[in-house]
Amino acid sequence: MPIIIAIDGHSSCGKSTLAKGLAKALHYAYLDTGAMYRAVTLYFLNQQIDYNDPAAVEKALQHIEIHFERIEGQNHTFLNGVDVERDIREMIVSEHVSPVSTLSAVRRAMVAQQKAMGRRRGIVADGRDIGTVVFPDAELKIFLTADVDVRTSRRHLELAAKGIDAEWDDIRRNLLDRDRIDSSRADSPLRQADGAVVIDNTLLSEEQQLAKALELAKAQA
Ligand code: DC
Repeated sequence: MPIIIAIDGHSSCGKSTLAKGLAKALHYAYLDTGAMYRAVTLYFLNQQIDYNDPAAVEKALQHIEIHFERIEGQNHTFLNGVDVERDIREMIVSEHVSPVSTLSAVRRAMVAQQKAMGRRRGIVADGRDIGTVVFPDAELKIFLTADVDVRTSRRHLELAAKGIDAEWDDIRRNLLDRDRIDSSRADSPLRQADGAVVIDNTLLSEEQQLAKALELAKAQA
């Protein structure tokens, strides 16, 4: 029986690496919910929408369509029919995405779509509210964390690989800012879901982390 695997945790602690690895090994779909909040943020920035204006946000949300496509084995995020996979990873989006993610109207719209995507189960989703709000009935919930300097270095490498130039100090500050905003917001703050298994991957390789999670998944399936 296919299950739902919910992965939550701090910014840049390897959630998407783990989620993609699990999805591949189990032949499940991968749902990158952070990409959806990033796509909404990109839309607001591109259209110069003041996201502190609730009426403007409500109106804009009616014009936003987000979907995912597999291109050469990679997950690509589409915003209103345009591939924005690279643009949504830019620092300018990272700087605004946490405040945008505090907005209840935005969360309501995203969560409704995410729940629909998980209807058939057989899905690995990562984000900040997956085990608590989006899929509280997930058979396996993982809360991932790692040391902030290790996270900063990983993020730095990941951005460099995408050709995105960013300063180490700026990345570190951004991660800490996002952790603070994501964990303290009123609507669906980041927190460990009931029944979640905590994995601190500071000293784990990708392979070790995946093996640990696969073991947990196989015990549930
Ligand atoms: O996973 P990520 O770093 O790409 O996510 C970007 C931001 O989106 C994150 O700082 C907070 C927000 N987010 C959220 O509020 N809820 C989610 N389920 C996923 C992401």
